[in-house]
Amino acid sequence: MIDYKDPKYTSTERANALLSLMTNEEKVGQMMPLAYKFMTREEALEWAKKGLGSYLHVLGDNADELQRTAINETRLGIPIIFGIDCIHGHALNEYATVFPTQLTMAQSFDREAMRKCGRVSATEVRCDSLHWTFSPVFCIGRDTRWGRINETFGEDPYLIGELGAAIVDGYQNNFVDNSCIMACAKHYIAYGESVGGRDAYDSMVSERMIRETFLPPFQKAAKAGCKTYMTGYQSVDGVPMNSNRRLLREVLKEEVGVDGFVITDWANVRSLIENQKVCDNFEDASRVSIDAGNDMIMQTEEFYDATLKLIENGQVDMKHIDDSVFRILKAKFDMGLFEHPFDKPDRSKICCDEHVAVDLEVTRESMTLLKNDGVLPINTKKIRKIAVIGPNADDLEAQYGDWSCGAANGHRKPATSMLKGIKKRAKKVGIEVIYKKGCDIEKPGKRGFDAAIKAAKESDLIIAVMGDYIELNGEYKSRATLDLPGEQTALLMELKKTKKPIVLVMVNGKPLCINWEAENMNAILETFNSGMVGGTAAAEILFGDVNPSGKLPISFPRTAGQVPVHYNYLPGWHGGKYKDIEEGPLYPFGFGLSYTTFEYSDLSVSKTEFTEADGEIIVTAKIKNTGKVKGTEIAQMYIHDVVGTVMRPVLELKGFERVDLDAGEEKTVSFTLPIEELKVVEQNLEKALEKGDFEIMVGGSSVDLPLMTTIKAV
Ligand code: NOJ
Repeated sequence: MIDYKDPKYTSTERANALLSLMTNEEKVGQMMPLAYKFMTREEALEWAKKGLGSYLHVLGDNADELQRTAINETRLGIPIIFGIDCIHGHALNEYATVFPTQLTMAQSFDREAMRKCGRVSATEVRCDSLHWTFSPVFCIGRDTRWGRINETFGEDPYLIGELGAAIVDGYQNNFVDNSCIMACAKHYIAYGESVGGRDAYDSMVSERMIRETFLPPFQKAAKAGCKTYMTGYQSVDGVPMNSNRRLLREVLKEEVGVDGFVITDWANVRSLIENQKVCDNFEDASRVSIDAGNDMIMQTEEFYDATLKLIENGQVDMKHIDDSVFRILKAKFDMGLFEHPFDKPDRSKICCDEHVAVDLEVTRESMTLLKNDGVLPINTKKIRKIAVIGPNADDLEAQYGDWSCGAANGHRKPATSMLKGIKKRAKKVGIEVIYKKGCDIEKPGKRGFDAAIKAAKESDLIIAVMGDYIELNGEYKSRATLDLPGEQTALLMELKKTKKPIVLVMVNGKPLCINWEAENMNAILETFNSGMVGGTAAAEILFGDVNPSGKLPISFPRTAGQVPVHYNYLPGWHGGKYKDIEEGPLYPFGFGLSYTTFEYSDLSVSKTEFTEADGEIIVTAKIKNTGKVKGTEIAQMYIHDVVGTVMRPVLELKGFERVDLDAGEEKTVSFTLPIEELKVVEQNLEKALEKGDFEIMVGGSSVDLPLMTTIKAV
């Protein structure tokens, strides 16, 4: 008989041995995470004695107390796994590092930076006795009206998969020590594609589209060994995701084959009854949720009694319950929780210098210069006085963005608003900075205009810091309009009349329709939600200490009616054009300016004719920095499958690399193109490599691809 407490056995052997000893009550308990903040301490301890498998949103000593109870006061002593929404840093700890949001960091196109951020966040989360984050988001952000765009890595499945897999690896790091946590790939699947960009709604997508566009990022998560997956709030084609046996059990668990478990989103089981109305009682809702393939049921207390009743009446397949509990136990063994339930890194790691340095490095890479008529970098000889104007200049909450959970009020020493960063940098060269808010985003009114205009007139340069705020981004915060909210454009129009040059620094959760600004500003720097050190990084870019290198992971629509406007659209007879606006996005995917220029040449491919057996093709190109300062280019490789049995996107990103180049320097960049990435999901839903031509293109954005060659599948 295998002793489940003996570490000489494998996790699989131990989980099976433990499972064979468990009562039905103990099994169902393991399937339940409840939120600590919605119970009293006594209730939480009661649940721990009943063998609750997991809690959410509980930190430090409170978590340790529950853990002691589980280990010492339950029959089998199964440790609890504690989960948290560490979405862009451990925001619930007021001293922890706050990274830029996922959308912001996606501008870096930097896999290694994502891995490092994952490592930092995991270490800090673990310091608070927690083992699991509900991150990263693998949703595709194509409908920018959707409130949760800021949580995505943008619009492209390839980019999302690459960056997501890297951060998963950073969080988990093979569970080598006490600085590792489980990742959670969420929200399965096509959650962001809901009709009209409405949150937690129906996504009208076909299974072919799912397999072609929405599944690949989750497949990359599985390949990276991601331990957990979250079922979204949405329905797909009228079937709530939580009861979608086909997509969850058959496609995700059986076909993709995840080594880990699936957790529902918050109260999804209750939602089947109250919102989606496919069940009318908890027994039924629990039964269909288990049958569909959910292993853990988040925040639905009624699941406990309902499931025990189902078991008693033989109304649920015990095979499914056992499989779920096995998966949960195995994850706990894999993490080393049975051996080291209280093990954690030293608290001095929280927001330590090394972690702040990682944050600063990625934040510098995560800002995109959208326009520059030469006003940037700031000429510190000519400019002697700067007017910083705008509602987001001195607003850490807007800068941190969604899921910062009040972090802006926390005690983070490196925290730097845009205003603070600009002031500090300007002081070094004796430039005077005056600040006027000008207007408020939430409360309409022009009362602040006069003071702002006066400050502008007295200055040599205006830095306007504008955008949106936290209430316009997040769960249930979709927008039907995507303009700069409030009086901000009106204020910019007044400032423009002063004839002073204006640099617009955008602090916002997602692409906004800034057509007038694109025409009329001298420069625009997009910083999205840049987190704790955003002000430092933006100032470094504005003053030219850092050459901007970010590229857009998402297209900017001209107007909300044009959404979705992603670059990888399907071709069509009339090309999907509108009569009343210019074609294409305002700013396209992959676009971003630098203070230098780059030239591409010498495209070559390792094979011009290939079969599946070739495995991969190597694509190389030369890039030269043709300007006067060093810079970093994000070189991008796209493909176009010329003719397919089903329509093929006009372009598909299939490779990217960051290339650092001194002025005048030339380097060769190399991309590996797996043949797998060229396959098509055919009408029968099978993936196949179809014979024929593929165009291979390399360049600096989806609309600037100077190099092209053709390869052929034979
Ligand atoms: C609901 C959100 O949709 C999900 O992303 C989050 O992880 C859970 N709540 C837990 O807080």
